[in-house]
Amino acid sequence: MAQPVRIGLLGYGTVGQAFVTLLKQQTALPAEVEIALVTDLGRPREGPPIPLTTDAREVVANPRVDLVVDVMGGRYPAYQWVREAILNGKSVVTANKEVMAYHGSELLQLAFERGVHLRYEASVGGGIPLIEPLLSHFRWGPIDAVIGVLNGTTNFILSAMEKGEPYEQALAMAQAKGYAEADPSADVLGYDAVRKLTLIIRMVFHFEVSPDAIPCRGIDQVTVDDIVRVAHWGYRIKLIARAYRGGRAMVWPTLVPANHRLAFLEDNQNSLCLYLWSQEYWLEGPGAGGPATALSVLSDVYRVIVQRDLGPRETVLPVRELQPMAPEWILFPVDPDRVVVPTAFPEFGLWNGQYFRTEPTPIGQVEQWLAEREGFKAYPLL
Ligand SMILES: NC(=O)c1ccc[n+]([C@@H]2O[C@H](COP(=O)([O-])OP(=O)(O)OC[C@H]3O[C@@H](n4cnc5c(N)ncnc54)[C@H](OP(=O)(O)O)[C@@H]3O)[C@@H](O)[C@H]2O)c1
Repeated sequence: MAQPVRIGLLGYGTVGQAFVTLLKQQTALPAEVEIALVTDLGRPREGPPIPLTTDAREVVANPRVDLVVDVMGGRYPAYQWVREAILNGKSVVTANKEVMAYHGSELLQLAFERGVHLRYEASVGGGIPLIEPLLSHFRWGPIDAVIGVLNGTTNFILSAMEKGEPYEQALAMAQAKGYAEADPSADVLGYDAVRKLTLIIRMVFHFEVSPDAIPCRGIDQVTVDDIVRVAHWGYRIKLIARAYRGGRAMVWPTLVPANHRLAFLEDNQNSLCLYLWSQEYWLEGPGAGGPATALSVLSDVYRVIVQRDLGPRETVLPVRELQPMAPEWILFPVDPDRVVVPTAFPEFGLWNGQYFRTEPTPIGQVEQWLAEREGFKAYPLL
């Protein structure tokens, strides 16, 4: 049997502990845990007892560590440690979409040059096998569009709000279930979904875009009232991430027709639909949670082990600017009793007494329109 791969962890929290628990159940995988980086050595942990350190170099510069598993979260210092591990000739498996969205192209190039692996299956879609199919299977097809729900926390919150829970209460429930981070702002403001969409664009459309260039709106302004009203019109609100081959992309709370497959997505589920040759391919499953995410991490560890001698496969991609997104929108007054004079919206289309449905209209134009008038809301249509 091959020499076991010795793993050093950056982080021993929710995902890290679930990963080591899962790893220790495997008898056929030649891998063992050497050490894990944490901030607080005294914190009680449910995972198997392993050597802990507060010195990152005990992981990334440790000659007894062959493979670094980054499950610490945050952009810094995770980026520095991942970079240093690669420079030290170690393969890296990361669950960190923030690092991969902002620094992925540099780190993948570095890993390529150093002849080590950098894998990130858990960074998008939690427990769904998503990165590997995009990198290997779908890489070869001319994908026209990708549309999905990429954040389990916000999907859970919106589902709970549909059952009548106010936003704050729904958020507290998501935190109690371990879906939301202690600081949930990246989830609820849409940044987490944007980072994941950046990675998907890289894999599917083969160009680089900065996460900051993708138009983004979170769910923090969505109210139970909005949800109830659009339900009467046949829609559910989902935080939809979408990107098109022509170079358009956005993440926005979006009106999804109630009979659309994405409208049925509940709880912390994630879903990604790929449009290829006028056909839909769906990747779906639990988008968050320790054990599900740990399975994705472990599958990457397995791939690093079995492909140790094959070398990395990533290539450097061109940077591209996005085209403006111009979806159709539904606009409505926040106060349902407010009488709206249709002529106030000459630039927009149908009026049914409660809302307007626009022609395809650029995001910026709608934003400006809203900024100039108080008391209106707008949601893009799927
Ligand atoms: N949780 C999920 O469902 C999920 C799903 C998909 C992807 N992910 C990704 O997986 C990663 C880990 O998430 P998690 O939920 O496991 O996070 P977590 O429970 O907060 O665990 C983070 C771990 O990293 C350690 N850590 C954080 N910052 C550190 C620093 N500056 N120096 C040393 N140690 C540090 C913490 O140490 P202490 O324990 O001492 O505080 C903790 O052990 C993140 O990138 C996250 O986005 C999570």
